[in-house]
Amino acid sequence: MNTKNVAVIVHSQTGNTFSVAERLKDMLIEKGLNVDLERLKTEENEMEYIKKIKEKSLPDAAKYDVIVFGAPVNAFTLSMLMKAYLKQQRSLAGKKVLCFVTMAFPKPWLGGNRAIAKMKKICGSKGVTVKDTGIINWNNPKREEMINEISQRFCDEICRQQPFSAGRNTEMI
Ligand SMILES: Cc1cc2nc3c(=O)[nH]c(=O)nc-3n(C[C@H](O)[C@H](O)[C@H](O)COP(=O)(O)O)c2cc1C
Repeated sequence: MNTKNVAVIVHSQTGNTFSVAERLKDMLIEKGLNVDLERLKTEENEMEYIKKIKEKSLPDAAKYDVIVFGAPVNAFTLSMLMKAYLKQQRSLAGKKVLCFVTMAFPKPWLGGNRAIAKMKKICGSKGVTVKDTGIINWNNPKREEMINEISQRFCDEICRQQPFSAGRNTEMI
């Protein structure tokens, strides 16, 4: 039996990123993992919320062995809320971390790559190398295939027994 505790923690304004997270969660549960899906709260005044993020009640990443972070691309980079959430983490050392983003524009260089680079950098500063990443272009006609592929790939990586495989960062587009 697989006893890893997995968290899928996402920021999702309009639900796209959350729907990918739900797909991944279902796949992981089928494999027998314990999975919590957490959605960061979005407030009307996001800037004010972010300013006070330290006082907010946020998903506790510390209690999980594996964490998948997901977020939308905003203004050609990572959404500010996910950035703030990742930055206020204490240590992620010893955890298996995977990251994905969803975006509307057709090319990963229109924000996806930058968002992923930011997630990797912040996670690195918290003591962990991100194991795998994915970018999902929401308007691509092959979106469903992309979601299935990334979910399957993440699922395989999460279910892999120790020692964890070497870091891999393959974009989806
Ligand atoms: C304020 C704002 C800025 C955005 N900036 C970008 C961008 O720079 N590049 C891009 O590809 N998509 C951009 N998008 C589109 C979102 O990344 C895309 O629709 C994403 O799938 C939304 O995910 P969500 O439904 O989980 O919030 C932007 C959306 C919003 C609302």
